[in-house]
Amino acid sequence: MKLTYFGHSCFLLEVPGARLLLDPYFTGNPLAPCRAADVACDYVLCSHGHEDHTCDALEISRRNGAPILANYEIAEFFAAQGAQTHGLNPGGGFDFPFGRVKLTLAFHSSSWIENGRITYLGEPCGLLIATAGKKLYHAGDTALFSDMQLIGRAGLDAALLPIGDNFTMGPADALEALDFLRPKLCIPMHYNTWPEIRQDPERFAAAAANRGHAVHPIRPGESLTI
Ligand code: NI
Ligand code: MN
Repeated sequence: MKLTYFGHSCFLLEVPGARLLLDPYFTGNPLAPCRAADVACDYVLCSHGHEDHTCDALEISRRNGAPILANYEIAEFFAAQGAQTHGLNPGGGFDFPFGRVKLTLAFHSSSWIENGRITYLGEPCGLLIATAGKKLYHAGDTALFSDMQLIGRAGLDAALLPIGDNFTMGPADALEALDFLRPKLCIPMHYNTWPEIRQDPERFAAAAANRGHAVHPIRPGESLTI
């Protein structure tokens, strides 16, 4: 599988027959190497409702005819605006043509704010994706939690983990998360987008290597084959 990073928590996962866009955030993303209008995909997956994970979901979904897969409230929110959607909830998975998506727990919040009004959009989630013989976990925005051990038991080829601190786990807790998850490879995310979440991914990778974990930061616009 090929994984391309667009900065923040936004990735394109390409497997034979399907292109999955995870947590679309191009508009207003200072790290994005391209615009939402440049993206082609078959599915859009959103971990939670915050703008920095969903703001381009509707436009990209409509233009590509790509269903939005997310928690039930996010799915209904976008369905009411004309999108094709598939709603799930934490602990629930579904077999799609490209493979299985299961929503996991995440400890965070999940809302959409427009004109000062807050709409709450269900539970924040992580995305556990089994496709092309590999398992990938996109943790979404989350605190460290001990049930990550259970997610790790699936045997993860890759874990995409937030390291930014302030809104999510910082590097120290992300190291604890690696001890729980034990993925073959970790790709850090949700850092350096704004001043509050400035982090050094290479320093995180070195600290993780000292604990026996492989971390490979990807620069926005770059791809990695897993
Ligand atoms: Ni968030
Ligand atoms: Mn976020």
